[in-house]
Amino acid sequence: MRIDILTLFPEMFAGPFDHSIIKRAVQKERVEIHIHNIRDFSKSKHRNVDDYGFGSDAGMVMMIQPIADCFEKLKSERQYDEVIFLTPDGSLLDQPMANRLSLKGNLILLCGHYKGIDERIREHFITMEISIGNYVLSGGELAAAVLADSIIRLIPGVLNDESSALSDSFQDQLLSPPVYTRPADFNGWKVPEILLSGNDKEIRKWQMEKALERTRERRPGLLKNKGLQQID
Ligand code: ADE
Repeated sequence: MRIDILTLFPEMFAGPFDHSIIKRAVQKERVEIHIHNIRDFSKSKHRNVDDYGFGSDAGMVMMIQPIADCFEKLKSERQYDEVIFLTPDGSLLDQPMANRLSLKGNLILLCGHYKGIDERIREHFITMEISIGNYVLSGGELAAAVLADSIIRLIPGVLNDESSALSDSFQDQLLSPPVYTRPADFNGWKVPEILLSGNDKEIRKWQMEKALERTRERRPGLLKNKGLQQID
């Protein structure tokens, strides 16, 4: 997979992509991440990337020219499956959406700032608009990092234990059951007996019960999607 990210703040991606699973995915060549500074594409004398919005005094709007030129250059080099704009008014990111995007080959992520971007970019270039939650961030960079992380960890060969992405919370519309490690008794706080029993079948049953209990308490909406709300 190849992910191209257009941003006014390329430095913001140094942290999230330089550690742990994403770093390993890049090293293993499962994903290429290319960060583009939108300012580098500005044709104006002072490398401007924003201007006053027509018909309002509410703030600055990201200009069409630098973003359009960057898109055109990338699209002349390869085909993209989706051109995604991170925006609070996009479709809410969830696990099925991350699963679908992890099967794609080439993605562009556009990070917005200020009051927004010239609407003509959304009309003519963007194929998907995604929000990572019902709150407003200062810009799309953190949202793009979250989206990229949720996708990249699902690419085959990225996680060491291939099955662990499948047992994640949400993957089967259930939250994960609690997990424990040694010691089995910490100052009297004990690990549930069943997990020490060695009885695999009973342990799986306990884990499924706990996953259902947790989902019913914390995210009943997930069970509704799954058609399981009646189960006690
Ligand atoms: N940009 C600002 N807020 C955002 C959000 N919640 N999701 C995606 N992009 C955003």
